[in-house]
Amino acid sequence: MSASVGNSGGLGRSRRWGLYIIGIGAWLSGGLWLLFHYFFVEQGEFGPQVNPLEPWWLKIHGAFAFAATWIFGLMWGVHVTKAWPYKRRRSSGAMLTAVFAWLTLSGFLLYYVGDERIRPMLSIGHWAIGIAFPLAFGWHRLKR
Ligand code: HEM
Ligand code: HEM
Repeated sequence: MSASVGNSGGLGRSRRWGLYIIGIGAWLSGGLWLLFHYFFVEQGEFGPQVNPLEPWWLKIHGAFAFAATWIFGLMWGVHVTKAWPYKRRRSSGAMLTAVFAWLTLSGFLLYYVGDERIRPMLSIGHWAIGIAFPLAFGWHRLKR
């Protein structure tokens, strides 16, 4: 078996760009929701009220989240399973896979868990890992 995964483990130019656009979109829309939710609260007649843009960031985020599950499935088929046998970048790749899986699972649960004690923890657990996503990605991408 040669040492090179070849063609970056099935990642051609268009797939790589697809991954970058969806990743940046999900990260920015989630980040903007956080910013508007916690810092850009409007003062209404009866006290603080939700900024009108806040629900839009979540809708956009939801759309990118669906696209993210698609790109993750694609990455699994063309990259993860192909690159795994070569034993290179395994720990950073496995970490990135785990981060993706957690964001998908916790994002799904955010839709349906209404319990007042659990939801805030889920929310923080989702976005804290989400914000750190570029670190996990950078570790994998730049590793020699
Ligand atoms: C256990 C899982 C994984 C393994 C073993 C793995 C392995 C690798 C290896 C060996 C390379 C270098 C390819 C080369 O030198 O030809 C690479 C590059 C890359 N991987 Fe992974 N990977 C995994 C998971 C992932 C995941 C989940 C993503 C995305 C979410 C990802 C995105 C990338 C990208 C964007 C590159 C750079 C491609 C380039 O340089 O053009 N990998 N991976
Ligand atoms: C694989 C990638 C991701 C998926 C599948 C995903 C999925 C989801 C889903 C389904 C929701 C619930 C939407 C709703 O309630 O209408 C959500 C909410 C959220 N996501 Fe993500 N997300 C991903 C990545 C990220 C990233 C990278 C960030 C980084 C900042 C992030 C931050 C947030 C925030 C702040 C919320 C709102 C939390 C709340 O309602 O309490 N997400 N996400």
